[in-house]
Amino acid sequence: MNIDTVRDYYGKVLETTADLKTDACCTPAGMPDFLKQALANVHDEVLIKYYGCGLVLPEALSGMRILDLGCGSGRDVYALAQLVGEKGEVVGVDMTPEQLEVAKRHVEWHREKFGFEKANTRFLDGYIERLSDLDLEPGSFDIVVSNCVINLSADKHAVLKGAYDLLRPGGEIYFADVYADRRLDDDVRKDPVLLGECLGGALYWNDFLSLAKDTGFGDPRLVTARPLEVGEPALQEKLGAARFTSATYRLFKIDGLEAGCENYGQSVIYRGGIENHSAQLELDAHHKIPRDGVFPVCGNTWRMLKETRFARYFEFVGDFKTHYGSFPGCGSSNPFVVMEQLAEGTCCQPTDASGSNCC
Ligand SMILES: C[S@@+](CC[C@H](N)C(=O)[O-])C[C@H]1O[C@@H](n2cnc3c(N)ncnc32)[C@H](O)[C@@H]1O
Repeated sequence: MNIDTVRDYYGKVLETTADLKTDACCTPAGMPDFLKQALANVHDEVLIKYYGCGLVLPEALSGMRILDLGCGSGRDVYALAQLVGEKGEVVGVDMTPEQLEVAKRHVEWHREKFGFEKANTRFLDGYIERLSDLDLEPGSFDIVVSNCVINLSADKHAVLKGAYDLLRPGGEIYFADVYADRRLDDDVRKDPVLLGECLGGALYWNDFLSLAKDTGFGDPRLVTARPLEVGEPALQEKLGAARFTSATYRLFKIDGLEAGCENYGQSVIYRGGIENHSAQLELDAHHKIPRDGVFPVCGNTWRMLKETRFARYFEFVGDFKTHYGSFPGCGSSNPFVVMEQLAEGTCCQPTDASGSNCC
C-alpha cells in the first residue's frame, strides 16, 4: 500500500465530501441532537472536507484528553472539543498537508465560537504508524478516536500498538472504520481508487479482531455497524461479491481481559449522571444498560465499567469468587450480523435481572 497514493487522494484528488464514490460519509441514522448542535458550531470549510464513515462519539467526555488518528480537516476534533470542554483537550494527527492546513487555520475561530479562554485543540503533522515520533507522553490519553483511517494504513499493527502505548490504563480506542466480509484479492487491495475510498485496505473483520487481541486489546466490543454502498458500477465490478460495512469498535486498555464472556453472577446498576446519556448507557451493541435497573454482566463487561472512567456512574454487585461458566447467549462480534439485526430492530433489548442481555 503506497502512502503517497493515499496522501494525494486526500490532498489533491478529493476536494469535498461530494467527490467520494461511496456513501461512507452519509450521516448515519440516529445522529443525536447534541452532536448536531456541536457540528453546527464547526466551520463550513472544515465540514465540506469531512471524509469519515461513522460516528466517533464515546460517552462521558467532560475533561477528557483525546487523540484523533487521521483527523483530516478536523471535523471530529472540533465536535469533540466542545464535549470535552475547556478542561479537556483534543489533539489531531494527520499526514496530508492540505487537510491539516484547513484544520490548523480554524483553531482560533473555534476557540472564539466555543467561548473558551484558551484553545483546547491542537493539530500535529505525522504518521499514525509512528506515533512515538510525535513527542506525546505515553499513557497520557484517556481516549483515542479515529474515523475511517486505519484501513488506509499498511501497518495496522503499528497503529494499534502506538495507540495502546499512548492510552492510560482503563483508556480506550473508539473508532469507526471499514471492514470487508472476506479477505480481499491483491488487485482490489492495490487499486488506488479503491484504496483511497477506504475499500481496498479494509480488513476482513475477523482478522481485525485477531489483530486487536494481538496488540493487547482483549475482547474488542462492536458498538454499531451499517452497510457501505459503492455507487459506481466500475468499482462494483472490481469488488465482485465482497461486501463492506462501516463499523465502530471500542477497545479498552485493560490487562488480562478473558478470551470469553465468563459468568461470575455479577451485575451492575447505572445510576445516571453521564451527560447526554441520562436514560441508558450503550456500552456496545449487546449492552444497552438502562438507568437504575439491575443489569447482569460477564466478567469482562464488569471490568470495562469498573476500571474505566465509567466507574463513578455505576454500582457494582458481586465479585469474581465463583465462576458459573460461560455467560448465557453471548452475542456476535460480526458486524455483518449486527448490522442486519440493527436494521431489523432485533438486537439486544435489555432484559430483566435474571435473563441474558446479549443477542
Ligand atoms: C478517510 S479520511 C478521514 C479524515 C477524517 N478522519 C474525517 O473524518 O474527515 C483519511 C485521513 O487519514 C489520513 N491518513 C491516512 N493514512 C495516514 C497515515 N498513515 N498517517 C497519518 N494520516 C493518515 C489522510 O491524510 C486523511 O486525512
